Amino acid sequence: MSNASENLKDRVRAFWQANPCGTKFAEAETGTRAFFERVEEHRYRTEWHIPGAAGFDEARDLRVLEIGCGLGTDGARFARAGAIYTGVDLTEAAIGLARRRFELEGLPGEFRVADAEALDFADESFDLVYSHGVLHHTPDTRRAVREVHRVLRPGGRAVVMLYHRDSYNYRVNIGVLRRLGAHLLRTEAGLRLAHRLTGESLDNLREHAARVRRDARGYLSSDEFLSRNTDGAGNPLSRVYNRSEARELFSDFAEVEFAVHYLNKRRLPVVGGLLPRGLEARLASRWGWHLWIYARKGDNSGT
Ligand SMILES: C[S@@+](CC[C@H](N)C(=O)[O-])C[C@H]1O[C@@H](n2cnc3c(N)ncnc32)[C@H](O)[C@@H]1O
Repeated sequence: MSNASENLKDRVRAFWQANPCGTKFAEAETGTRAFFERVEEHRYRTEWHIPGAAGFDEARDLRVLEIGCGLGTDGARFARAGAIYTGVDLTEAAIGLARRRFELEGLPGEFRVADAEALDFADESFDLVYSHGVLHHTPDTRRAVREVHRVLRPGGRAVVMLYHRDSYNYRVNIGVLRRLGAHLLRTEAGLRLAHRLTGESLDNLREHAARVRRDARGYLSSDEFLSRNTDGAGNPLSRVYNRSEARELFSDFAEVEFAVHYLNKRRLPVVGGLLPRGLEARLASRWGWHLWIYARKGDNSGT
């Protein structure tokens, strides 16, 4: 691996180590039972499509590997449904919390710190590899997808969520609105106005503002802007994929299908809160932020 890629991986690890995914949505002491309950309640209230899209209830007796398990919220759903569950993540923080989450509920599961790009599992070890919102954050996504393919048994399935390029969030919110909003961050009054308009925390907006002041051109470059405007201003790397890019990424697999979910109502001021669920689901299936990829490894071959 090149030095640049290694350095980026270190920054990715440091960011997620300091900001375990989902913790900001729970106002309870991290690692307590109340904390995990709130994380879970928030997750399936705001991303209510996940249980159906992930297929937790169909995973009984399957050997499931989750890559980038975060706090183990989806992992617990797999384990409760009777899957033989293994969770890996790049950070000690996530693995410590996910393990604790399983212990509190007495759920069976294996955990280890591991890098998606170089998994420490034998070929063909799993029936299902699941990864939600992870592989677009690793420097070499292609290498990680090759690892998904390698550890799956012939006929095994991958269920992977990546950020969606042809989405409202990417095309309109990040591509236009947040870009215009970045200019507000040049003054304190503008920053406060952005806070009122978006509900985004002043701390996060100040971090964006500091980046605009330091290097506006670099910050506004499309790759950098995308990364800083998905999972927090400190996030060093995010990518987006459309269907054909994802199809190409998963070209080693015998079959690939897609579904699109999640309108991310936090990014739809006012209107978001008023949408009935049926309409929200219809809009999300076209303009949603989450591209779900369902890929099956060929039965006998390398595909
Ligand atoms: C946005 S969070 C998603 C966590 C969880 N899957 C969820 O949906 O809540 C991204 C997670 O991916 C992990 N991650 C990033 N790069 C990784 C890599 N190369 N290998 C394993 N995990 C990685 C991070 O540590 C972090 O826990």
